[in-house]
Amino acid sequence: MSTAQSVRVAGGDDIDVIVALCIEARETPQATEEQAGKIARQVRAVLADPGTVSLLALADDDAAGFALLRPLGPSALYDLPRLQVEALYVRPAHRRRGLGRALMRAALFQAERIEAPDVIVLPIDGSRKTERFLAQLGFVKIASHRVIDTETLATRLGPGVTPQTSRAATRQVLARRRMMARASDGSRSDPQ
Ligand SMILES: CC(C)(COP(=O)(O)OP(=O)(O)OC[C@H]1O[C@@H](n2cnc3c(N)ncnc32)[C@H](O)[C@@H]1OP(=O)(O)O)[C@@H](O)C(=O)NCCC(=O)NCCS
Repeated sequence: MSTAQSVRVAGGDDIDVIVALCIEARETPQATEEQAGKIARQVRAVLADPGTVSLLALADDDAAGFALLRPLGPSALYDLPRLQVEALYVRPAHRRRGLGRALMRAALFQAERIEAPDVIVLPIDGSRKTERFLAQLGFVKIASHRVIDTETLATRLGPGVTPQTSRAATRQVLARRRMMARASDGSRSDPQ
C-alpha cells in the first residue's frame, strides 16, 4: 500500500507538532521536562516570528518532517534577496521516500516567490547522509563557520574584557530571558 505524501505551509494549529519534531531533530530524547519546556518555548518564539515560514511534511496525515525557512532581504554586504533554510528534518522512518526533496521543492517555491536567486541551507546536522542529500541536489559549500565560547574569547581579547564581566553579562541576559519567558507563559495561561 502506498503512502500519501505531501508538504504544506504550517499554520498556528501545527505549532505543537513542529515543536515535537524540533525536539526530536535536536536529538534530546533524554531532555528533562524542564529542558523540553525550555526548548519548546524557544521553538515557539521562532515559529511565531513572522519572518519564518514553517513547512510540514506529511505521510498519510502523520507528521513526517519539517523545514524552517527565512526569506532574507538585501543586506549590507549582499544586494539580492535570499532564502535561508534554517532547519530541515525528516523522521528516520520516513526517509528515502522523497519527502526531503518535497520539502526542498516547497523551499524553492518560496525562493521564487521572493525572487531570490539563491537558496542557502545552514549547516544542518553535518552527517554524511545530509551532506550527500544536499550535494546530490547541487548545493556547494560557500563558507566555513568558526566557533568559540564567550569566556575563552574574552580571555583571548585580553584586558578590558575579562571572563568575569562576560560571565556576569551572560547571567544578566539569561535572567532577563527567564523573566520574559515566565511573563509570557503567565499571559498565555490567563483565562480569556
Ligand atoms: C537529509 C534529509 C532531510 C533527507 O530526507 P529524505 O526524506 O530522506 O530525502 P529524500 O527521500 O528526498 O532523498 C534522500 C535519498 O533517498 C533517495 N530516494 C528518494 N525516494 C526514494 C525511493 N522511493 N526509493 C529509494 N530511494 C529514494 C533520494 O534519491 C536521495 O538519495 P541521495 O541522498 O543519494 O540524493 C534527512 O535524511 C534528514 O532529516 N536528516 C537529518 C537532518 C537533521 O538531523 N536535521 C536536524 C537539524 S535541523
